[in-house]
Amino acid sequence: MRRFPAPVAVVTGIDEREEFGLTVGSLVSVSLEPPLVCVAIGKDSARHEPMRNAGGFAASLLSAEHAQLAQHFARSGVPPVALWAGVATRPGVQGPLLEGALAWLECRTWAEYDAGDHTLFLGEVLSTELGMPGRGLVYHDSTYHPA
Ligand SMILES: Cc1cc2nc3c(=O)[nH]c(=O)nc-3n(C[C@H](O)[C@H](O)[C@H](O)COP(=O)(O)O)c2cc1C
Repeated sequence: MRRFPAPVAVVTGIDEREEFGLTVGSLVSVSLEPPLVCVAIGKDSARHEPMRNAGGFAASLLSAEHAQLAQHFARSGVPPVALWAGVATRPGVQGPLLEGALAWLECRTWAEYDAGDHTLFLGEVLSTELGMPGRGLVYHDSTYHPA
């Protein structure tokens, strides 16, 4: 799969007023009617339970300039305060939205499926917003590239 470029997004949410976020390469479009997307979250991740509790999530679809941000949200063990320090966001309904993204999705969790060491979260897309047009960010061969 390392040879298969994956678009990069940051999924965020709010669990008991605490905001969480993580970098994902698994966000895919699944259905148009109703509009559904899917993301796979590792059960070992500290963000897995918050994701389950939140009942929904936001996704910021990263631009080619966002490689550092993607790295930041992929770090382990970052305390919540440090996670958001210096990160330009604006509030969303389901979670913080990262400024400068290509687009944003806000979803409520439609279904959860057990998938081995991950859980698949299907999100019903409640709203979408477009940012500035530009190249997306992909992860390929363990490196970030412009799409
Ligand atoms: C490019 C990239 C894509 C990733 N995609 C996913 C993903 O789809 N699902 C996931 O659970 N973690 C993914 N991760 C890992 C998470 O961003 C993060 O490192 C992990 O949730 C950290 O868990 P921890 O806080 O328990 O250490 C990805 C990391 C990178 C760098």
